Parts: sequence; structure tokens; C-alpha cells
Amino acid sequence: MEKKWWQSEIVYQIYPKSFQDSNGDGIGDLNGITSRLDYLADLGITCIWISPIFKSPMADNGYDISDYFDIAKEFGTMEDFKVLMAEAKARGIKVLLDLVVNHSSDEHPWFQAALADPQSKYRGYYIFKESAERPNNWRSIFGGSVWEKLPNEDVYYYHTFHKKQPDLNWENAELREEVYQMITQWLELGIAGFRIDAITFIKKDLSFQSIEPDGVDGLAKCTKVSRNQPGIEVFLKELNERCFKPYDAVTVAEAPGVEYDQLDEFIGEDGFFSMIFDFKAADLDVVSGSEWFKPVQWKPKDLFDKFKDSQLAIQKVGWGAPFIENHDQNRATTKYLKEAEKNPKAAKALALMYFNLYGTPFIYQGQEIGMINFNREGLESFDDISSIDQYHRGMAEGLSSGEALAVINYRSRDNARTPMQWDDSQYVGFSTVAPWLAITEQSLERSVADQIHDEQSLWYFYKKLIALKKMPSCETLVYGQIAFVDLENPEVFAYRRFDEKSSYLTLVNLSNQEVEFPLENPIVDILIENGGMSLSHRHVTLPPYGATLLKETTNGNY
Ligand code: GLC
Repeated sequence: MEKKWWQSEIVYQIYPKSFQDSNGDGIGDLNGITSRLDYLADLGITCIWISPIFKSPMADNGYDISDYFDIAKEFGTMEDFKVLMAEAKARGIKVLLDLVVNHSSDEHPWFQAALADPQSKYRGYYIFKESAERPNNWRSIFGGSVWEKLPNEDVYYYHTFHKKQPDLNWENAELREEVYQMITQWLELGIAGFRIDAITFIKKDLSFQSIEPDGVDGLAKCTKVSRNQPGIEVFLKELNERCFKPYDAVTVAEAPGVEYDQLDEFIGEDGFFSMIFDFKAADLDVVSGSEWFKPVQWKPKDLFDKFKDSQLAIQKVGWGAPFIENHDQNRATTKYLKEAEKNPKAAKALALMYFNLYGTPFIYQGQEIGMINFNREGLESFDDISSIDQYHRGMAEGLSSGEALAVINYRSRDNARTPMQWDDSQYVGFSTVAPWLAITEQSLERSVADQIHDEQSLWYFYKKLIALKKMPSCETLVYGQIAFVDLENPEVFAYRRFDEKSSYLTLVNLSNQEVEFPLENPIVDILIENGGMSLSHRHVTLPPYGATLLKETTNGNY
């Protein structure tokens, strides 16, 4: 495969509301991000993806856009954005924005115009259905019907997510044209590309027939008929040809519902996107991404198998986007390490587990200092609309209120959205006033200030991993093929990155027991380890949660 510029990037995701407040209103902002660019440069990342910064009523924290051309007032101004761009560029950091075009806010002027006048062309920009009752039984992702009735007409509009997020009608060519112009305008400002939100929802089954209910509410999850439907390829191809290709922009799509045998179409040589996120490893603990109240028991081997299947499928056709956290997930420490969530050594093992997988690695803010989940006492302490829905759905499906609370405490998206922990001051260096969402740790164990000067810290471990990946002599860690080593021990993960020149072996012990790992090839170098490993001629012994990256001699037999 021909090398692409974005394959050697290391991306850091910023959730702007929670990263750094610069003006003392308790809400993060663009100037806050700019003020932390030196921090990011020091960590070594090469690219930031900023979750939506556009004007929004913030029903879903910016994933509900009311003006695609303006910046949310909480986050600053267009001028601030330009300064951020220039300062990032000066540090060699590229910028990705979040493209949310499955839906807009209901406060977008298009939607407002559509509501005001049934004859308006903007009715065609959204999905309206004349009907005396709800047009079908599809359930939206954030709960309740996908249909919302207009107050004074027998007309409903469609929303995949919240009712404040009406879906744009991609069947309408004029709407698509407006979307493409908007995308081009942002690319003209010098951004490197986009993370693309919920893009597999843009095509619906146009019969809009009811389907077999799957819950006590009599509704059925809309994904079955509204996600990655036949015909979507026409829109996605056009989007790529018109917007991304001319700018050589990188795109990483949130594309749930894409099966491994469809990857070629999505991320192959002439695919719609540069990369897509695969959520199978992130969602291994729940029946499906949006139904948290149905937990699934899992073991380390299940996690390793998810990574393995995903990586092998991706490697066949394109390029991956490995990650363990984002703004929709609970913290990886809590999810994957359970009772060891606060153990820095175990958090380092998680870092090694995914960081050198095949693809461009993504790090989510706070992951580099091992931030953990936050337990809330009651429903009123949650901000995330999805958590509130899951609480009620859990109860409707038979959970007690305590059980429903436990479910959302564990899985809430708010876990990832608490303020970034910069130091141990009252508001953890995030703000000078009480932040919009409570801080995870009142007595702070994990902060940037604590870790940044400590060479044994998790932060430093990430810094070293990033530095290794950027070393020209370690190019194989970027471009090399991946192969997984089948092990008898189900709690150890092992993979190789290799090419004709070099071979690197990652070994990760996710158990609280010491393990011994037989070596196939002599080791020439220990690139990194998280402490306590011992190496003999034929074996590596890893302590509980031990992990290492080794350079081995190649024998050309892989
Ligand atoms: C994506 C975003 C999520 C948002 C949803 C609706 O899944 O990652 O945060 O709530 O789309 O835009």
C-alpha cells in the first residue's frame, strides 16, 4: 500500500467543554486549548481532534449544531479559532474538527424555517411525515420514538438521536450541496481533516415500515433499518469526491454497523474514508453500544480477540484507528482493569496493549494520566442525555432504581467528560470556578502536574511510547504488518509488528499473576517496559500487569 501522510500521525482527542477553561466561566474553551498546546507538543502528539466547537444549544454538548459557520459562544470566537490554528501550526500540530452532518440542532435556521412554513424548501432538508399518529415504531438512540410531532400539524419529524437533533435529509440534493460547501469552507481554513460523526445513519430504509419490537416500550432499535442501509454508498462516495479528496484531507469516521466484509468499500484503496473507528473492543462489556443496562461478562481473552479480529480484517484492506477511550465511553482504566483501575502499572499495560496496533493511534484527554470513572449519588448529578435515558430504560426493563443508577454510573459518557485534571488546586487547574460538571477526584491522585516530572509516571510512559513511534529507526511500528501470537495463557496479549528489516514484539499481561512467556526469537532490545520484567535466553517473565515492547531478531518466517 502507498504511504499516506496521516498514517504516521498520533492523534489526541479534545472534548472542548472539559479540557481547559480560560475565562473563568467553568466551561472549557478554544483559548484554553491554545494555552495547552505546549503541553500537547511536549507529550509528542502530532494532531488534535476537537469535538464540536460550533454554535449549539448544547443539548448534546455541541453534537447539535445550530450554525455550522460560527463558533459556540461558550468556546470563543472565530478569531480565537484562527489563533488556535496558527499556534498549533507553529508547533507542528495538525487540527481535525468534528463533522456532524447526520443531523443539526432543531435551533438551526433551516429547521426553524421548515417549522415556520410548510411550503418552505427547508421542509425538504429534514424528514417530515404527514400522519395522524407516530409513523412507525423505531426507537431513537437516546430513547423514545424517532418521531416527534409538530405542535399544530399532523406532521412528525425524524430524529435518530435526541428530539433536539433532527436528521438532515440526505436524499435532498440541495441539502447535500449546502453540506459540501460548508465542509469546503472549513478545509479552506487549513484544517487537516475531520472526525465524522454518526455517518452511517444518513441513509434510512425509506419504506419506514414498523419492525418487530425489542423492548417493553413496544419500540425497536432504529439501527436495524436506519444504519448503513443499501444506497449509502452513493452519498459517501459523493461526499469523498466532492469534499475530502481535493484537499487530501484525512477522515476518520464513526461508522457503526459496517461489517468486516464491507471494509474495503469504506477504507480500501478507493474507500469513502481514510479510517473508521471499530467499537467492538470498546463495547465488549454491553450488548450493544447504546444499551448499557444489558451488561456482558467478559474476560481478557475476549478483549484480545476483538482487537485481533478487527486488526486482521482492517489490515487486509486499509488502515486502522486504534483507541481505548473517547468522549462516549467510560474510562478505560475502570472498564478494562476493574479493581486495578487505580494501578498505574496496569494503566501502562493498557497503553502498550493498543498503542502499537496497526493504524493511527488515538489518545483521549486524561487517558495519559489514567483518569478513572466517577461515581454519582443520584440521577440529578448526570448531564449526559443518554445516561438519563438509559436509567429510565433500565428501570422499565426491570432494574431497581439502585441497579439502574449503578449501570449508568459505570457506563455514563459523563465519566469521560469530567474536567481534565491538570493539578491539585481546588478546581484541578481546569478553571478558577466550579466547573460545569463535577470533578472526578476530590482528593486528587492523578494529575498532569504530578506526573509530568516523574519519569516513572503513566504520562511519561505515553510520552515514551509516542517518541518511539516517531523514531525513524522504528518505522516498522508504524508501517509494519501485524501478526498475533496465539498463547495458551488467555490473560496475555502478544502481537508483532514486522517487515523485512525489523520485528517488534508487544507482550501484555492483563492478570494479577506473574506469567512466563516463551521466546521464539532472540531479543535484541527492550524498547519499553512497565517494571519488574525479567528476560532470560528463552523466556520473558512478566509480573502482574507487566507489559513490554521488545525488538527481536527476524527470521523471515512470519
Ligand atoms: C456520536 C457522538 C456522540 C453524539 C452522537 C450524536 O455518537 O460521538 O457524542 O451524542 O453522535 O451526535
